[in-house]
Amino acid sequence: MEENIKIKTILSGIKPTGQLTIGNYIGAMKNFIRLQDDYDALYMVVDLHALTVPQDPKELRQKTLSVIAQYIAVGLDPEKSTLFIQSHVTGHTELAWVLGCLTGLGELSRMTQFKDKSAKPGANINAGLYTYPILMASDILLYNADLVPVGDDQKQHVELTRDIAIRFNHRYSDTFTVPEPVIPKSGARIMDLQDPLSKMGKTDSGESGRIALIDDPAVVAKRIKSAVTDSGTEIIYSDKDEKAGIRNLLTIYSNLSGIQVADLEAKYAGKGYGEFKKDLADIVTQSLSPIKQKHDELMKNKDYLDEVLRNGAEKAQNKAWKMLSKVYRKTGLVQLKR
Ligand code: AMP
Ligand code: TRP
Repeated sequence: MEENIKIKTILSGIKPTGQLTIGNYIGAMKNFIRLQDDYDALYMVVDLHALTVPQDPKELRQKTLSVIAQYIAVGLDPEKSTLFIQSHVTGHTELAWVLGCLTGLGELSRMTQFKDKSAKPGANINAGLYTYPILMASDILLYNADLVPVGDDQKQHVELTRDIAIRFNHRYSDTFTVPEPVIPKSGARIMDLQDPLSKMGKTDSGESGRIALIDDPAVVAKRIKSAVTDSGTEIIYSDKDEKAGIRNLLTIYSNLSGIQVADLEAKYAGKGYGEFKKDLADIVTQSLSPIKQKHDELMKNKDYLDEVLRNGAEKAQNKAWKMLSKVYRKTGLVQLKR
């Protein structure tokens, strides 16, 4: 029956800890764009998550707005998707408290991201870094999201979210939708250009290892030309560690051009890395130039961004309040009569 068909909800978030990279774009944002037409889509900038590492307040404000501008610049349409800032909606941290009381310390200790981050020399291991996945579960469950588009490194956090949702539903009664991650088959883990066995990260990679969506074209071309490859000559996609550099570049090329990897292998058979990198630099700059241009224009129009964020926060807040009060009721917290 028509009236029983509920439009599914899709939700994701990105931390404003640095400039967005082509890893964010290929691993997550391309799916944000692809899915916004068919779902009730909510995309946020998770500024509270960014506080798990020390931030300069002025820069954090600037970076948060820049991520919103980049959301719009890559093709997220504020008329179709709810674009908002996590801290503009009350409910994320409140639900996180309830969910935290259902999460085991052992579960949090098993999170790879926490283990990696806390193992770094001189790491600032604060409680927020540890409880980070609970806030992420809250982001997702607060809106009953069905689908969560993310890169490979976030799969474990979405799995923990599923476990928490199932636990709550079991302990109280059916409340939360158990979400599914949406992870691309190709490009779920774009690697550092200088160290192709490590993930390209906004802050983890050095400048020459990453490409930002709003880098200047000349910088992009230079980074690609100096990307680490191997001492061989073959442009082939192989699982071998020594081919990690070329494998990563082929993945980037394929995702940005839409050409299958096998067709790229055929196109570059018998050709050198130099020619391949030159073409790839053209593909990447062509893909990114309009994004940078649009971003730079939007950053000059703060009134427009403000309006988008105001609308986004209002829509998200309405949903969040309903869900939070349902959760408080189900858990036995007394509600005042209206
Ligand atoms: P973050 O930059 O950690 O806030 O990540 C935002 C989104 O981008 C998450 O869904 C990540 O999984 C995804 N992501 C980040 N870096 C990469 C990468 N190098 N390759 C693919 N996806 C990524
Ligand atoms: N933890 C995610 C990351 O580091 C960001 C994030 C926070 C997120 N809340 C979310 C992603 C909710 C998807 C859904 O990339």
